[in-house]
Amino acid sequence: MADESSEKFLTYLRAAMGDGSLTRLTLGAHRGSDPTLRRLVVRPVVLQAGPRFAFVWSHATRDITKNFAADDALALVTGLVGTDFATANLSTTTVTVQFEQRPGRPGRIHVGPALEETAAPVPAHDRTKKRSVETGSAWLRGLGVTADGGKVRKGMEAKFRQVHRFVELLGPLIAEAPLPTDRPWTLVDMGCGKGYLTFAAHAYLARAAAGPARVLGIEARADLVELCGRVARETGADGLSFAAGTIAGAAVEQADILVALHACDTATDDALAKGIAAGAALLVVAPCCHREVRPQLVAPDVLEDALRHGILRERQAEFATDSLRAALLGWAGYSTSIFEFISPEHTGKNLMISAVKRTRPADTAEAARKVRALAAFYGIRHQTLAARLGFDLSPATVG
Ligand SMILES: C[S@@+](CC[C@H](N)C(=O)[O-])C[C@H]1O[C@@H](n2cnc3c(N)ncnc32)[C@H](O)[C@@H]1O
Repeated sequence: MADESSEKFLTYLRAAMGDGSLTRLTLGAHRGSDPTLRRLVVRPVVLQAGPRFAFVWSHATRDITKNFAADDALALVTGLVGTDFATANLSTTTVTVQFEQRPGRPGRIHVGPALEETAAPVPAHDRTKKRSVETGSAWLRGLGVTADGGKVRKGMEAKFRQVHRFVELLGPLIAEAPLPTDRPWTLVDMGCGKGYLTFAAHAYLARAAAGPARVLGIEARADLVELCGRVARETGADGLSFAAGTIAGAAVEQADILVALHACDTATDDALAKGIAAGAALLVVAPCCHREVRPQLVAPDVLEDALRHGILRERQAEFATDSLRAALLGWAGYSTSIFEFISPEHTGKNLMISAVKRTRPADTAEAARKVRALAAFYGIRHQTLAARLGFDLSPATVG
């Protein structure tokens, strides 16, 4: 039977089949009527007739292969996840998504990074069209990422990879989020810096959204706002604007998608709170430093020696802060995923938190209990997202 996690899995699957990023789907733990069937593997193939999905049903003693066009493939798989097959593993060029349904338990889903950097498995003639960031884009040139001829400039390769990866992640998240269908979307990027990801998101939405999107970058440094505004004007980026100011002080009237990547310390919390207050359907943040919680941490006796080491204390602070943020987002009505944004070899700041607004109401009392239990375990008395949401972390509080 379809539940929230199988629906979520299918959302990722639909997006991956639709944008050509699916590399492999494996359905396992078969519990359908044929006892000889072990698993089903689905891969994209390119036949003379065009792109298709090859289905291989592995039985105890033989394999059966059939090819299907995208619509038929999707319809077939949709009826099998969580029903005939209890496990499903999806690999795409951007994420891996695992679904599991144990007997008598609700389904569980885990979203992680892609297994390896792979080219999108699409036919050669389609590749240019499917690229998530075009190296020839005028904005990449304007921001100094590429040089003449669209070549990525020396020293900007990691930034280009980051931009590319960000856009690849946006697609499935947008597909999952309950974004409005009756008006253009507004994306707000807080602490947008030099605007690499703001321009990338704008370019992506211009291609992917149903109508023209409005994209606003907010940044404390006036010089960067000036630069971004100039590049936006020079490259004719309609609907893209930048404003100088702090995240906490920003007046956000509308935000369907809230982005804040590597905003310092509690600026991430300010951004999340602004997005929640605006009723954003999708929040995407990559936290930076975790200074607020670190001095508050109390460790169980058994960890006392370990936490004398600065680096372990730092990681513990990261873990505690982001776990608490995820729990608070759950309480605020969002379904949260935490995963690696880019390979840690490129930057240490590689954790991403995405939160999609739930369409069904949350059990707020249970969610609040979990938040408080987590805060109590780590001895956290003050945390900015909790404060901005008016959530009292004290253990004795009810509701
Ligand atoms: C590390 S940069 C990241 C820029 C961009 N988001 C990215 O990931 O490429 C952080 C930016 O956030 C800005 N910033 C940090 N705290 C802020 C705040 N409270 N309000 C507005 N901007 C802030 C900084 O000025 C800086 O440009």
